[in-house]
Amino acid sequence: MEFSLIDTTVQSFDGDCVVIFTNLDTTVNDNNVQQLIDLNNFESKPGSTLLLNLVGGFKAKQLVVVGIGKAPNTAKNYIKALTAASSVLNTIKSKSVMIEAVEINDFDEQWSHRVAARVLQNANYGIQQVGVDEKVEIIENIAIQSSQDNTHELLQGQAIANGMSLTRHLGDLPSNICTPTYLAQTAQDLADEFNLACEVLEEADMAALGMGSLLSVSKGSIEPPKLISLSYRGNGDAKPIVLVGKGVTFDSGGISLKPGAGMDEMKYDMCGAASVLGAMRAIAQIQPKINLTIVVPAVENMPAHNASKPGDVVTSMSGQTIEILNTDAEGRLILCDALTYVEKFNPEVVIDTATLTGAVIVALGKHHCGLMANDQELADDILTAGKTSLDTAWQLPLDDEYDELLKSNFADMGNIGGREAGTVTAACFLSRYTKDYRWAHLDIAGTAWVSGAKKGATGRPVPLLTQYVLDQIN
Ligand code: BES
Ligand code: MN
Ligand code: ZN
Repeated sequence: MEFSLIDTTVQSFDGDCVVIFTNLDTTVNDNNVQQLIDLNNFESKPGSTLLLNLVGGFKAKQLVVVGIGKAPNTAKNYIKALTAASSVLNTIKSKSVMIEAVEINDFDEQWSHRVAARVLQNANYGIQQVGVDEKVEIIENIAIQSSQDNTHELLQGQAIANGMSLTRHLGDLPSNICTPTYLAQTAQDLADEFNLACEVLEEADMAALGMGSLLSVSKGSIEPPKLISLSYRGNGDAKPIVLVGKGVTFDSGGISLKPGAGMDEMKYDMCGAASVLGAMRAIAQIQPKINLTIVVPAVENMPAHNASKPGDVVTSMSGQTIEILNTDAEGRLILCDALTYVEKFNPEVVIDTATLTGAVIVALGKHHCGLMANDQELADDILTAGKTSLDTAWQLPLDDEYDELLKSNFADMGNIGGREAGTVTAACFLSRYTKDYRWAHLDIAGTAWVSGAKKGATGRPVPLLTQYVLDQIN
């Protein structure tokens, strides 16, 4: 799929199809189109579509009229409209398409072009079934109406969509294919393609570093653990932004075994890892003047005769000891060692993303990512990046009172804090390992994938992470 900018009227576009936006309370510029809208009682609800053939005055064969709701146009309705238009374009098999320019409230034209490229390309993501050849893209060219040269924005939008498709693909892969070894290979492939520095630590390397917490999770699995680092250098010796992603390629719960219903979805427990790989792919393609490192602790959490048991005590790389009260609270056990390990990169900031707690779905549902941080300025920057990229986060507190719930009689801390505020106590646990740098944590258990008939990975929070990184330039 290729994107371009075109400075002509929608009537004179000589391709397969033109996409026109309509508001609930206003009329469109073209009388022929307005008559057909009225004739069809088309209401212009956000994301509703009307397909028109051979309309007088238009060179294109077909028109997709897509509702964008009440004026002024909101960013959310813009995405709904673009997604709906894309689905019609695929159904009618349009190869060359023009998208009408439209103003979005609170955002500039650069923003709307970046988002259009991202959303339209991302809408074309096809779930690739195991053993089936890759789906061919139907839409070949999309020309967006513009009088400005925003080519750079289109490339950015596409780079973000490419990152999201990598993230979605890794998430959707079953855990018998997407193992820690597979994630390491994916990182190596990215390094080769984009000339990045890649390092993969094996079990023995991690043991030598004293990562007793991480290894206590992987030891019940036949799959060898990996600690993956990937670095992009666009700004000399500047301190890097470091992103850490939870990479549990399958979370059975371990000896604290999960119930059977819906357990297949625990193949998505590596979506944090997939999202930092996706953000790295986007940044490596955009090539901004910034340094970025991603770190992925990758393990499988399984029950076995040699798996960790509730009550076991382990020593983390930081030297702090942990009583494993529940082997299903494994994400924090691998992240704490990764968060100690990242100190070697001398990070400007560290942001981890993890499908860490079911409790975040109770608190925030599937709309916002949960955000917690030890630095309010960093938290604010992430909230802003979420709003700009329409991949939003909502901040939860991190007071000392919550941290006290982690008290253990047998170690420096337990790995669970009880029933209350599960998302916050999980972050409190992590905060004990991040005292030496500015740190934020994104709990993406609610946002990384959707369940039900449309089960699949979403590619979040790649847009937020990429936006945050791009916002740090200068
Ligand atoms: N990967 C899960 C969190 C999760 C659960 C994500 C459901 C998405 C949907 C995590 O490892 C986990 O099991 N967390 C436990 C923590 C508890 C034992 C303190 C949870 O949320 O139940
Ligand atoms: Mn778990
Ligand atoms: Zn988990």
